[in-house]
Parts: sequence; structure tokens; C-alpha cells
Amino acid sequence: MRGVRVACSGCGATVDPVETLPFRCPNAADGDGIDHVLARRLTEPPAPPDRDGDNPFLRYRRRLLAYHLALKLGLDDDDFCAIVADLDASIAKVDGRGFRVTPFAPADGLAAAAGLPSETEIWVKDETGNVSGSHKARHLMGVMTYLRVLESAGAPLASGLRDRRLAISSCGNAALAAAVVARAANWPIDVFIPPDAEPAVTRRLERLGANLNVMHRQPGQAGDPCYLGFRQAVAAGGLPFGVMGNEVGLALEGGYTLGWEMAEALADAELSVNLLAVQVGGGALGSACHQGLREGLSASPRLPRLFTVQTMGAHPLKLAFDRFKAERSGNLEDDLARAAQARARFMRPWPDEPKSVAHGILDDETYDWLALVEGMAATEGDALIASEEELREANRVARETTGVRASHTGTAGLAGLLGYLRRSRTHDVRAIVLFTGIARD
Ligand SMILES: Cc1ncc(COP(=O)(O)O)c(C=O)c1O
Repeated sequence: MRGVRVACSGCGATVDPVETLPFRCPNAADGDGIDHVLARRLTEPPAPPDRDGDNPFLRYRRRLLAYHLALKLGLDDDDFCAIVADLDASIAKVDGRGFRVTPFAPADGLAAAAGLPSETEIWVKDETGNVSGSHKARHLMGVMTYLRVLESAGAPLASGLRDRRLAISSCGNAALAAAVVARAANWPIDVFIPPDAEPAVTRRLERLGANLNVMHRQPGQAGDPCYLGFRQAVAAGGLPFGVMGNEVGLALEGGYTLGWEMAEALADAELSVNLLAVQVGGGALGSACHQGLREGLSASPRLPRLFTVQTMGAHPLKLAFDRFKAERSGNLEDDLARAAQARARFMRPWPDEPKSVAHGILDDETYDWLALVEGMAATEGDALIASEEELREANRVARETTGVRASHTGTAGLAGLLGYLRRSRTHDVRAIVLFTGIARD
């Protein structure tokens, strides 16, 4: 297909999205040790934004796989815009708002309130006002747009799709986002959530008509019970509608819009940033921001250093990155290729039931770990851990200085950044953090 290409970053298999859903690598087999993730890559320089559009899925449409697919299937620019606009209008009916470019600006006084030199500039991308109250809906809007293009064009791949229920495993925000988008598209959805999901989230999921499956951890069970439930639903014919790159590779692309929006704003302001600190659960957010910035900033010489942030309670990515660094040979590409063939040597499920005030990032595994390892290694970043005290303090300072009612998960990237800047005494900092989710208490 012109403009984009979908290939597995683990085994190299390519997928034609006209014929095969670009979700799970066709070669993925449990236990083969390979890190299969289908990645969409542009084959041409990123098209400039359409500055008339304030919906990111219209503004950057010429970079989207679904857009190239639409053209390939005989639809035109107007058809594609109508598909996105219809979906967005339905989402607005369900959720009270559709997709719009979200605020991104330096947070005055945030660094000083945290005891850092006042010239430290911290830019905040605020996703708390995004559809369903977090950034997660971006991932799923990208996937649903692709499915709607298949349907609208009457592609052979669309036949029977509607008979398959959507399925997602999530501890809250992703489930909510998926349920909003599914409801707007009038598509039934099965959601696998843990018993301690926030009651406000569960109530809203019920009101959205999602079929809830509360998954309890069985004694001695390895791996996330919600993920196992989701896998069973998919094996029984369900359509994966989650944000894990290994299951729905295409889900990452909707998240790239975050990076594109930030890159465009920085280019307009003629500024560069030297640091991106991002909270990591399953890893889709971090890898999408990094890749989106890479595409959006393709004209600038240097990408911000990528710092991932996890909790003391669960930091499988930090351990994987430490193992990766310990085995470095010197050539990053070779090292990454080797790691992609031996996933379990690096990324291992967290052994205990994790706890943290930032409960949205307690995934047992970082599903998109290798893209993050690549990002950290390539930009001389690092994998950080934030303590519970740091997570609480960052949230308090964030809310007091910006007035944004973000959750602890939502400000976890800031917690990691503040800890890092205090320890390293880094100067001349212009950093990005994302307030990714609203507090629902
Ligand atoms: C508010 C919020 N921020 C960040 C994350 C982390 O995103 P990811 O799981 O893609 O790493 C999550 C995940 O649930 C979340 O809910």
C-alpha cells in the first residue's frame, strides 16, 4: 500500500492491511520467544498537518494507515473525512466531547513549586479533557477508524466483522475509552477488569452497555488474569480492541497523534525539548509518544531523551532495560535484533500482585517494552522508578500549580522527572510530561 507499511518488528513478517487485520503478527505463537509486534511505518516523509482540522484524526489524516487504506479501497479524501466526522459526532453524543487537539504548554511555577531551579521548563500535555478522560481513546479511535473504513468501502475483510464482539483487558481507563468508542460505533464489547477497578469506572462501563468480566487472580497464577481472559475471548472469535501493541499493533498509531501534536506546537514555537518523561504500564503510551515525536520532529536534529517511569510496586521495564544494558555489545541495531528473538530473557512477568497509588501502570508485563528500550537506548534516556512518596508529592504539586485534576497515574511521569532532576542536578532543562488521566474520585 502506498504511503505506509506494516511489518513485525520481531520476525519481519509484513502484513497487507487490505487483506489481514494489522493487529497480531500472523507468525506470533505462544512460547516461540520472539517479540512479535506489528508496527506501521511511513514509507514517505510525514505529510504536513491540515491546519484547518482541530480533530487530530483529521488534522494528521494523511499520516494514518486508515487514510491510505481508504484511498487504496477507492474512497476519497471527503469520504475519509466523513467517516471520521461521523464517528467523532457519535463519540461526542456518548461522551459529551469528541477528539480535539489537547492543551500543551509550559506549566508556570511547577518546577519552582517542586523545589527545582525556576528556569527549569516543564511542558505539560494535558489529556484529562480528552475523550473519556484519558489519552487511551486515541489508541482506539485509530483502530475503529480503520475498521469503519473497511466497512464503508465494502472490503472483503469487513465481511463477518460485525459478528465478532470487541474484547479488551484493562484496569480502567483503556476499558472506558474502548467502551465509549465501541458504543459510538454501535459495536458490542466484552471488558475484562480486575476486582479493584475504580467503582466510578465500573459504573460508567455498565452505563455504556459494556459486558463486564471481573477477573480474580488464581493462587499461583502467573500473568495478568484480565489479559488471560481477554486472550480466551479472542481465541473464541472476539475482535481484539485493546491498546497492547502485541495484540493490536495498529492501536499504537492513534497514540502517535500525541507526539504529532507536541511536535507541531514545538515547531511553531521554534523550540526544542531535551527530555520526555512518560509513565509506563503496558507501554503503548510511551512508545507511541516517542515514535510520534520522531515522525513529527523528523526535520529536527535531536529527539528528546526518553525517560520511562514505573512504580516501586511494579517495574518490569526497568528490569528488562537493566538486563538489556548488561548484554550490550556496542551496536544498538544488532542488540535490539537479538533481544527481539529472546523476549523472555529480558521481559519477565512481575512475580507479585503489585500495589501503588498509580494503579493504572501496574501491568505485570510491559507489552511494548522493546520499542521503549530502543527509544531509551537511542536517546540516552533511562528507566526510572518513582516511590509512592514521589508519586503523591508530584500529584499534589501538579494539581496545586496547574489546577488540572489529574490522577496519580496521570502525573506519574512528572513524579519520575522530578526525582531524576533532583538527583542528577541537570541544568538547562526543557522537559515534557503528560497528565494522561483525570482523577475520578
Ligand atoms: C491515565 C493513564 N496514564 C498512563 C497509562 C500508561 O499507558 P500504557 O499502558 O500504554 O503504558 C495508563 C494505562 O492504563 C493510564 O490509564
